[in-house]
Amino acid sequence: MRLLVTGGAGFIGSAVVRRAIADGHQVVNLDALTYAACLDNVKSVSNAPGYAFEQADIRDRAALDRILATHEPDAVMHLAAESHVDRSIDGPGDFIETNITGTYNMLEATRAYWTAQGRPEAFRFHHISTDEVFGSLPPDPEVMFTEDTPYDPRSPYSASKASSDHLVRAWHETYGLPVVLTNCSNNYGPFHFPEKLIPVVILNAIAGKPLPIYGTGANIRDWLYVEDHADALLLVVQKGQVGRSYNIGGENERTNLDLVQTLCSILDRLRPKAQGSYADQITFVADRPGHDARYAIDPTRIREELGWRPSVTVEEGLERTVRWYLDNEDWWRPLQARAGVGQRLGVKA
Ligand SMILES: NC(=O)c1ccc[n+]([C@@H]2O[C@H](COP(=O)([O-])OP(=O)(O)OC[C@H]3O[C@@H](n4cnc5c(N)ncnc54)[C@H](O)[C@@H]3O)[C@@H](O)[C@H]2O)c1
Repeated sequence: MRLLVTGGAGFIGSAVVRRAIADGHQVVNLDALTYAACLDNVKSVSNAPGYAFEQADIRDRAALDRILATHEPDAVMHLAAESHVDRSIDGPGDFIETNITGTYNMLEATRAYWTAQGRPEAFRFHHISTDEVFGSLPPDPEVMFTEDTPYDPRSPYSASKASSDHLVRAWHETYGLPVVLTNCSNNYGPFHFPEKLIPVVILNAIAGKPLPIYGTGANIRDWLYVEDHADALLLVVQKGQVGRSYNIGGENERTNLDLVQTLCSILDRLRPKAQGSYADQITFVADRPGHDARYAIDPTRIREELGWRPSVTVEEGLERTVRWYLDNEDWWRPLQARAGVGQRLGVKA
């Protein structure tokens, strides 16, 4: 397929680009290269014959029209977004503009392109979203997010993503645009920008710095290895039913405290300290305002309809991730100098 991937220089988008090229697809990577982007994430495929890069902002409609007309994709995979909840608390404006207005531009540019192509049935607009749109779950392990869970976003980030999901469904119902949607749980793995919890913990640990845990660390997240997410996305864009959404999750619920302790014990094994454990560096800090208590995905639909399953257990995935950060200082060291990285953000309420 000829795929137009937005946000392909980010964490998940770059995993999609790498996997799509490996699977023999042609890929146009459209990315504005914001603070969260790194073209090194796609260096391994940047010379592949099927790969092209377009630096463009999804808020720039004319650029989107030009790129669609030039590359004539069979499908759009829309991942470009502002993605860090803490930044959305300090500055929601960028989240409204990119996640909502940007998605509106993507939909309108894609609709114009698809109409000009004669409205091909096989075309897909795949919108990549998050489980955070569903709000917060009670601790009861029987209760999980399904595709029918009502939306209840509670941060500027999740509210902006929820809005974009609604726009995508409306463009399907109103204009017939052939869309598919996915809502995924927390991802982790190589190339995760060093402002997010898992890389922060690994990199602070080896630098001898405190390992910050928000509140009491009791918040529960459902973790998925990023390459398993990329596989799921490529499956949905090719085989997903039009108009349908699919929840994607690893069925790996962990409290944040548990997760950080697991990372510390992996590090204790792979790079032991002269004395004591990395867990001694754990520090509890003020909680994030509106911090959702629990997210958990029921992935029954994608498993039963499309046969997807994660290939990596959380133990294997975390170990691979720790090893990757230990081996790739050249990648993460320069990113730590970018604005806001390493600072506590999102404490304003
Ligand atoms: N990280 C997660 O755990 C997770 C989980 C579920 C869903 N998602 C969703 O997956 C997508 C990708 O997330 P990520 O973690 O890879 O994000 P990321 O922040 O690592 O990457 C986002 C990419 O989008 C680009 N971008 C941002 N604004 C843009 C604009 N206006 N125009 C063009 N490009 C722009 C950035 O330059 C960056 O390369 C997002 O839509 C996010 O909501 C993320």
